[in-house]
Amino acid sequence: MRPTSQLLLLLFLACISLLPIQAPAADKLQKGQNLTDSNGDTLLSAGGSFTLGFFSPGVSTKRYLGIWFSVSNDTVYWVANRDQPLVDKSGMLVFNDAATLVLLDGARRTVWSSDFTGGSSASVAQLLDSGNLVLRNGSSVAYPWQSFDYPSDTLLPGMKLGKNFWTGTEWQLTSWRSADDPSPGEYRRTLETKGLPELILWRGNVKTHRSGPYNGLYFNGVPEASTYMNMYPLHVTGLTARPTEITYGYTAEPGAPLTRVVVNHTGVAERLVWNTDTGAWISFFSRGARDITCDAYGKCGAFGLCDPEAALSGFCGCVPGFRPISTSAWQMKQYVGGCQRDAVLECRAGKTTDHFKVVPGVKLPDTQNATVDIDVASLEECKARCYANCSCLAYAAADIRGGGNRSGCVLWTDAIVDLRLIDSKQDLYLRLSKSEFGGPSVSLFPTWIIIGVSVALIIILVLLAFWFSTSIGQLILWLLEGHAVCLCIIRKATANFSGENVIGKGGFSDVYMGRLFGREFAVKKLRKDRLTDKGKEDFKREVKMMSTLAHVNLAKLLYHCREGNEWILVYEYMENKSLDRYIFGEQNRPRSSLNWVQRLEIICGVAVGVEYLHGMRFVHRDLKPGNILLSDTWKSKIADFTTAKLFIEEETDPTVVLTPGYVAPEYSSERALTYKCDVYSFGVVLLEIIRGRRRTSMATFLPDSWEAWSRDPRELLLDPEVAEPEGELLTRLARCVQIGLLCVQHLPEERPAMSEVVAMLTSTNSQLDMPMEPTANGGAGPIAQLIIDDTP
Ligand SMILES: *[C@@H]1O[C@H](CO)[C@@H](O)[C@H](O)[C@H]1NC(C)=O
Ligand SMILES: *[C@@H]1O[C@H](CO)[C@@H](O)[C@H](O)[C@H]1NC(C)=O
Ligand SMILES: *[C@@H]1O[C@H](CO)[C@@H](O)[C@H](O)[C@H]1NC(C)=O
Ligand SMILES: *[C@@H]1O[C@H](CO)[C@@H](O)[C@H](O)[C@H]1NC(C)=O
Ligand SMILES: *[C@@H]1O[C@H](CO)[C@@H](O)[C@H](O)[C@H]1NC(C)=O
Ligand SMILES: *[C@@H]1O[C@H](CO)[C@@H](O)[C@H](O)[C@H]1NC(C)=O
Ligand SMILES: *[C@@H]1O[C@H](CO)[C@@H](O)[C@H](O)[C@H]1NC(C)=O
Repeated sequence: MRPTSQLLLLLFLACISLLPIQAPAADKLQKGQNLTDSNGDTLLSAGGSFTLGFFSPGVSTKRYLGIWFSVSNDTVYWVANRDQPLVDKSGMLVFNDAATLVLLDGARRTVWSSDFTGGSSASVAQLLDSGNLVLRNGSSVAYPWQSFDYPSDTLLPGMKLGKNFWTGTEWQLTSWRSADDPSPGEYRRTLETKGLPELILWRGNVKTHRSGPYNGLYFNGVPEASTYMNMYPLHVTGLTARPTEITYGYTAEPGAPLTRVVVNHTGVAERLVWNTDTGAWISFFSRGARDITCDAYGKCGAFGLCDPEAALSGFCGCVPGFRPISTSAWQMKQYVGGCQRDAVLECRAGKTTDHFKVVPGVKLPDTQNATVDIDVASLEECKARCYANCSCLAYAAADIRGGGNRSGCVLWTDAIVDLRLIDSKQDLYLRLSKSEFGGPSVSLFPTWIIIGVSVALIIILVLLAFWFSTSIGQLILWLLEGHAVCLCIIRKATANFSGENVIGKGGFSDVYMGRLFGREFAVKKLRKDRLTDKGKEDFKREVKMMSTLAHVNLAKLLYHCREGNEWILVYEYMENKSLDRYIFGEQNRPRSSLNWVQRLEIICGVAVGVEYLHGMRFVHRDLKPGNILLSDTWKSKIADFTTAKLFIEEETDPTVVLTPGYVAPEYSSERALTYKCDVYSFGVVLLEIIRGRRRTSMATFLPDSWEAWSRDPRELLLDPEVAEPEGELLTRLARCVQIGLLCVQHLPEERPAMSEVVAMLTSTNSQLDMPMEPTANGGAGPIAQLIIDDTP
C-alpha cells in the first residue's frame, strides 16, 4: 500500500470514530416514546427488511411518514399521511392519551391517526418482519389496528384485496398521483366480487384492465402466474355459496426473494421481485391499459376477440359466427362498436337447434353479469344448463383444477366483453346457430329416427344394468328422498327394529341403524310413551323444518314415516357418530384421535351450520357435543331439531329446553330466547372442544378458560392428550379461544352474532374485541329439565 492511501485510510477511520454513535433502530415504539423527523428517527423490522420513517418523494420537499424496503429506500410501499403532507421536518409520531398512534405537525396538530374502535387500546407500535405496522396492547396477539388493512399502492405478501360483506370493509390499491405525490391518484386495483373473483384496474370509474377470472389456480388472464406460484402462492378465499368475505392475497414461501405488487401512477399493475445480485427490481408480470395489443378493457367491443399476434389486423377480430357491426369503423381502426351475429339463434321455450362452438385458450369474458354456480359438477352439466336456457349465450368451466370434473359453471346471458386469446387452458363455449356448423350430414335415416333409436337403446341398457345390481334399489331410495315412506321399508332396513340394531336410546326416542341396498341410515323412532300431544308436535315440527333446510353442516332428514303408533324419522347415517365421544374420550375413544386441525374444522363447520339456521330464522336451542355428528371425513353436522324454534313465530314459547351447562343465563333465568342463546351454547362447545373437558364437570370452567387466556393468550388450557400445536396453529387456537370467550359473555348484547363469529373464524387477522370475564354460574337453574342425548 502506498503511503498516501494509508494516510487516507487512517483519516477515514478517524472520521468514522468521530461520528455520533447512533443506537440501532428498534422495531417498536412504546407509549411515551416518540419518532421525530428532525432526528432522523426510524423503526427497523427485526429482520431488517423494512424501515419506517419520514421521507420526501421524488423532487418534492414535503414530508410524509411511510414504510419502505430497507434495500431500496425509494420504494415506499405504505404512506400514512397521503393527503396531509407536512411542510417541514417538524413531524413527530407518538401515542396520544387515547392510546391511538398519531402523527403531529410542528404546531402539535394531528395530521394522521390510526383510528380504531371497539374499546381496544394499544401501547406499542411494532414494525413486523412481514412489513406490517401493527398496534398491540403489550404483547397481545390481537391487533386493534394494522397498516395491512389500509393499503396504499402496494400489495405485500400477507395483505389482501377484496371485500367483507359483513363489516362492509373493502381493501383496494390506489396509485399515487405522481412520482412526487403519494396522494390517491386516478388508478385503483380492486377485486371484483360479482361473478367470479377477478382483479380490475380502474381509472376513475372506468375499467381499464381485467386480470381474468380466478380459475382455482390463478387469474385466468395471467397464466404466467403459474411460473412463480411455487414461490408466491395465491390465496383466494370465499368461493362458497354465501361467503362473508371474498379476498385475494398471496404469501411468500420461506427464502423467496422480496416481492411486491404495485399499481403505479401511469396505470400499470406490476409484480416486482428484488434481485439481490443486481440490486434492482425485476418485473415478473405487468399489465395496464396502455398495452398496445390486447390489454385495454373491451378493446374490440362486444363479441370481439382480441388476438395479440394479429398486428396486421389491428389485433381485433370477431368471435366465430360474428362480423363487425360497422365495417367502415373497423377500417378506421375503431373497434369498440363490436360485432354482430351472422345467423340468428333458434331457441324458444327451451327447444333449440343451436350448437356450441369452442373458442380455445382465452381470457374469459367479463363475468360481472354472468351467472356463476361453483357447485356444478361437470362441464357436461354446465353445457346442459346453457342449452336449456334460451338466454344463455356462452358457458365455461369456472374451475380448471379437476380437468372438467367438479368444474363449476359460468353462464353468460348478455354481451361477451373483453375476450382475448391467451396461453391459458380455459375455453369458452359459444352458442351459435346450427347453420354455422357445416352442411347437413349425409345419412340414410332422418336424424330423428337415429336419435330415437339410440335413446331407446340407451334406456334399455341402463335398465338392464340397474336390474342386475342393487343400484335400482339405490335409485328408488334416491327418488324417495325427502318424502314419507312406507313402514315396511323401514322394517326391512332395521330387521324389524331388531335389538341388535339399536345404536342409541334417549328420553324421547330410540335410534336404530338401518341398512338397505348398501346404504346406511339412522332411524329415530319416537317412543310410544312419548306419543303425547307435545311429542307429536315436536315430531311434526322437525319434519316441517327439515324439509325447508338443506346445508352441508346440518344432518339431512332423508325420510319420515307415520303409521299408527310408529312415528319415525330417518336421517343420513354418520359414520363417526357424535362429537362428545371424541372430545371427552367417551366409549373408549382416545381424545387424541382428533387433532387440532380437525378440531378447528369441526368448530368452523358448526359455526357455519348455526349461521345458516339463523339465516333461515331458526334457533336451535340445544347445541351440545351430543348433537353434533361427524361424517366419515370428520365434517361436522348439526342434528336434533326437536327443540328448534322458528324464531319469529315462537319467540315466547313456554316449553323450555335446557341442557345444563350449555344454556345461556338469560334463557335459564328469564326464558328470553334470542339467536344469542345459540351463540352462547356454541361458545361453550368451542371451549369444550379445545379443553377436552365437560363444562358440567367443573363449576369454574368458563372463568378458568378466561383467566388462562387473558394472562397470556398463548397459555391456553389445551387438551393435553392432543399433540401440542405449534406456530401458526397455536395462534389460530388462541384466536379461536378468544372468539369462544366472546360467545359466552354474560349479556347477550356482548356476544357477537353467528355471522360475525363465522367471519372472525374464517379471517386470520381481523380485529377481535377483548372478552370480559364470563360468569361461573351460567348453567341451568333448578327449573332445568334435563335432556338426555338421544342422537347417535
Ligand atoms: C422525544 O423523545 C426524546 C427522548 O427519546 C425526548 O428527549 C424528547 O423530549 C421527546 N420529544 C417530545 C416532543 O416529547
Ligand atoms: C436513501 O439512500 C441514499 C443513498 O443510499 C441516501 O442518499 C438517501 O438519503 C436515502 N434516503 C432516505 C429517505 O433515507
Ligand atoms: C391492555 O393491557 C393492560 C395491561 O397490560 C390491561 O390493564 C388493559 O386492560 C388492556 N386493555 C385492553 C383494552 O385490553
Ligand atoms: C410504471 O410501470 C411501468 C411498467 O413497469 C414502467 O415502465 C413505468 O416506468 C412506471 N412508471 C413509474 C413512474 O414508475
Ligand atoms: C352489466 O350490466 C350493467 C347493467 O345492465 C351494464 O351497465 C354493464 O355494461 C354490464 N357489463 C357487462 C360486462 O356486460
Ligand atoms: C335463464 O338464465 C337467466 C340468467 O341466469 C335466468 O335469469 C333465467 O331465469 C333463466 N331461465 C330459465 C328458464 O331458467
Ligand atoms: C375425473 O373423474 C374421473 C372419474 O372419477 C377420474 O378417473 C379422472 O381421473 C378425473 N380427472 C381428473 C383430471 O381429475
